[in-house]
Amino acid sequence: MSQTVTLSTLRRMKAEQAPIVALTAYDYSFARQVDAAGVDVVLVGDSLGMVMQGHASTVPVTLADMVYHTRCVARGLERAYLMVDLPFLSDTDDRAALESAAQLMKEGGADMVKIEAHAAQAPVVEALSRAGVPVCAHFGLRPQRVGQLGGYRVQGRDEAGAQQVLEDARVLEAAGADVLLVECLTAAVAARVREQTPLPLIGIGAGVDCDGQILVIQDMLGITPGQPPRFSHDFLADTGRVQSALEAYVTAVRTRQFPQPRHTFE
Ligand code: KIV
Repeated sequence: MSQTVTLSTLRRMKAEQAPIVALTAYDYSFARQVDAAGVDVVLVGDSLGMVMQGHASTVPVTLADMVYHTRCVARGLERAYLMVDLPFLSDTDDRAALESAAQLMKEGGADMVKIEAHAAQAPVVEALSRAGVPVCAHFGLRPQRVGQLGGYRVQGRDEAGAQQVLEDARVLEAAGADVLLVECLTAAVAARVREQTPLPLIGIGAGVDCDGQILVIQDMLGITPGQPPRFSHDFLADTGRVQSALEAYVTAVRTRQFPQPRHTFE
């Protein structure tokens, strides 16, 4: 597990049914520890707006914030693949998305950009892909749309919602997405997405039947203020040391011991 992770590695892991371990990081020190623990994909998520900057949502995060944190994290990685969020309204059309991706990759050092998208944003995903940008499409719960959604709610609970999620997956895959990431879905709907797509499917709050798992690092270290999300687990409480907690998370995902049913929506 010491070779550098690439998109080919993630595709091979999907083919071999080897779980992909992903985690957020926002600074150099944590990036080093996460990398050393054997995490495959490090996400500089726009969740930094909440856990680093103290905002109530990801909406205030700017592209400049993302570039700054991406640079810090990139310096700490030797092995992991670096995925970075396009922040709110930095991807409203092809041109904006391409300019934003260019900054994240050329100035920040990102390997892949993540876009919160549903089927209607497929043309932007297509433009990024056509230009050679590796893309992760994030759907299900899209935190940048929390204002429209009216809160952080599990998605796809009824059959119409489930069909919408499956359609989003199909359209985003056809548009050229390389990786899919689903947030807050019932385990059954996430499993249906995984069955229908050849792309690596990473889940958060989407049950164990995904090709990989991701958490926000503050959640899995139990240092997020307030109530932790139901789908997270405090690995630091189990182990007492940050590096041991990160290693325990990696092992738990690789062996499909995380998430457990208590972390899962039905
Ligand atoms: O911003 C973020 O941390 C994310 C994860 C919740 C997947 O998008």
